[in-house]
Amino acid sequence: MRGTPEIACDNRAPVSKKIAVIPGDGIGPEVIAQGMRILERVNGARRLGLEFVHFGWNADEYLRTGVSIPEGAMDDLRRNYAAIYLGAFGDPRIPDMKHAADILLGMRFQLDLYINYRPVKLLDERLSPLKEKKKIDFVIFRENTEGAYVGMGGNFKKGTPDEIAVQEDVSTRKGVERIIRYAFDFANRSGRKSVCMSDKNNVMRFGGDLWLRTFEEVAREYPGVEHFHLFVDALAMQMVRAPEMFEVIVTNNMFGDIVTDLGAALQGGLGVAASGNINPGKVSLFEPIHGGAPKYAGKDVADPIGAIHSAGMMLDYLGHAAEAKSIEDAVVAAVRAGETTQDLGGKLGTRAAGEAVLKRLTTKDNAAI
Ligand code: IPM
Ligand code: MN
Repeated sequence: MRGTPEIACDNRAPVSKKIAVIPGDGIGPEVIAQGMRILERVNGARRLGLEFVHFGWNADEYLRTGVSIPEGAMDDLRRNYAAIYLGAFGDPRIPDMKHAADILLGMRFQLDLYINYRPVKLLDERLSPLKEKKKIDFVIFRENTEGAYVGMGGNFKKGTPDEIAVQEDVSTRKGVERIIRYAFDFANRSGRKSVCMSDKNNVMRFGGDLWLRTFEEVAREYPGVEHFHLFVDALAMQMVRAPEMFEVIVTNNMFGDIVTDLGAALQGGLGVAASGNINPGKVSLFEPIHGGAPKYAGKDVADPIGAIHSAGMMLDYLGHAAEAKSIEDAVVAAVRAGETTQDLGGKLGTRAAGEAVLKRLTTKDNAAI
């Protein structure tokens, strides 16, 4: 974050001040609690006027009532909220992930959150898993409303030796073009030099062809931004071998899901990675990229940094770039001081790691928030 909003910074921040807070399952509530301490502090000190409304949708609620997300809730979010701050979904008692699919994927699809914005930035060299120290600072844009996630397909002769399963991978011209254009726009306005598009068009010929043609066409509108293409297997290799070659990456839903976990590992692990699910100018969703991690739930060990970072990203989206920058600076300072949870080599619990960030919150002129 560079002092001006990084995302959707074309004065299209929603006007509503209402934020839906959905902690979800597992470690979700613990990490969101830390993010909320930061948000409430900044909201009060800087008089942002944000109003937080908590929603208890999660696995417990689903198991108790059979309802994953109440009727009309999606419309309420769409009409009345500026943003959604979400923890995590996933619970071993619901192996088919029905409630997670209804809530998380439901919001991505029904609110048309077509941009999955997942920055990969090494906050401190100590966190790098790579032997050689390399620059790791790029952004992955994952298409978020199409691809293998549309759930098209089915089983034929299920349960018999002749069973056939078909799972479609859907790309539309409109869907591909808007995410690619957003990646170029972002590179252009944030001063990043290049956009890499990644797919697997040597095998997935039809969808891949649509992606590559669209990429080349949109690239022509941005002569100031370099562009190149990598097959996704090569991308995975280069992200580890030469991460410094990337500034902006754009890819489809499934490949984006996979390479953003790799990206998370490059910046210190799933605990620190943040994401935005964005529809510019509309209600958008911010969440750490980790899941519910049930085995760590309730133990005060989960790393709250991914959630805190996501809170900063949400403020950035809402037009509060300076406040977002203060949060990022506070996170970096806490990490550099080693005041972190164990996954980052520290000794603190979730709450204390949140506290460490909170006490470092200052404004540009160094006044405490
Ligand atoms: C993510 C997650 C989700 C996804 C799961 C929980 C459905 O892995 O946000 O990356 O696959 O998109
Ligand atoms: Mn994932």
